[in-house]
Amino acid sequence: MKLRTIENLDLRGKYVLLRDDFNVQIVDGTITEPFRIDESMPTINALRALGARIAIVAHRGRPRGARNMEYTLQPIADYMGIKLIDDCLDKSFMTEMHDGDVVLLENVRFYAGEESNDPAFSADLARGFDIFVNDAFAVSHRAHASTVGVAEILPSYAGKLLASEIEHLTAVMENPSRPLLSIVAGSKVSSKIGVLKALAKLSDTLIIGGALGTTFNYATGGRVGNSLYEADQRDTALEILEYAKQNNCDVLLPLDKGVAKTFERDAARTNKDFTEIEDDDVIIDAGIQTTERDVAAIRNAKTVIWNGTVGMAEWAPTWSYGSFALARAIAEQTRAGKLTSIVGGGDTVAALSACGVKDDITYVSTGGGAFLEFIEGRTLPGIAVLENK
Ligand code: 3PG
Repeated sequence: MKLRTIENLDLRGKYVLLRDDFNVQIVDGTITEPFRIDESMPTINALRALGARIAIVAHRGRPRGARNMEYTLQPIADYMGIKLIDDCLDKSFMTEMHDGDVVLLENVRFYAGEESNDPAFSADLARGFDIFVNDAFAVSHRAHASTVGVAEILPSYAGKLLASEIEHLTAVMENPSRPLLSIVAGSKVSSKIGVLKALAKLSDTLIIGGALGTTFNYATGGRVGNSLYEADQRDTALEILEYAKQNNCDVLLPLDKGVAKTFERDAARTNKDFTEIEDDDVIIDAGIQTTERDVAAIRNAKTVIWNGTVGMAEWAPTWSYGSFALARAIAEQTRAGKLTSIVGGGDTVAALSACGVKDDITYVSTGGGAFLEFIEGRTLPGIAVLENK
């Protein structure tokens, strides 16, 4: 994949519209995981060094075309120490900009034209800018005005983060060191069918965990009590298992689980295998035997791709046991030079951060849905539009 990148451009006096993904969680005004923002800095700094006058366009949440200040980007502007322009279509700030200046435009999803990729809205957004740079890998699976519409209007380039995501994810898909182990968890089979099949084809071993694993346990006759799972995905789960078999991929389903009587952070934890689970048990984490088996699989692998926590990792310490054990094993093997590790997805990255091992991972993707679609081999519209330039 050959994309035009920003190196060697002379951007002195030029206005650059830069798309970043700053869709981060903010609790009580505080950014809980600034990873996506921090990863955007190399491109911002490179553009500044090239003399550009930069306006960053970004979104947060799903305000559905309305100006809902619950989703303002002000906390992000504060975190970055830059000015927020109250309206992403207001261009009056441009006359006051100097080379190297950076501003952040207010949430582009305050306009309905963003998600509908409305041509008139794209033209308004692009007006006044000389070039467009997409550095928002995490939203490049959306064909929106700020990812596709403006790229059809302005000369367009890939930022450093976008280029790096494509390079690392392509490398692991095209030429992985084997054995390749993929770990997929999370809640919905329906949202992960594509990636499960793609990884079943690519991997030597596939661990399916979390609520996703519970659906597979249900499909194969295991007891799941009062847990979260998708009864209507039984046939799909069986079909995926058959597909994996045909592709010589060994699938490891949960053996035992950490359960409680209520789905609550403070609930008392018991370890049960699938024959012991009672009707009022709720599965909240991977069990001890499952985790030991999965850690052994990690130690045997040369490449690991991981998306999705295998329990409520945010309810540490009681319910983070399984996810943290995987995170630590992956980090340990990577640190020792025995493993190439690729991790994507907001919850999974948060789990890495929570146990302090994020920096040990070979490559941590900023993508959630985009990561899954890319791994699945789908064309991401925000990237395709740059290729056609
Ligand atoms: C993400 O957080 O995965 C991206 O920013 C895309 O967000 P969306 O799913 O609301 O389009």
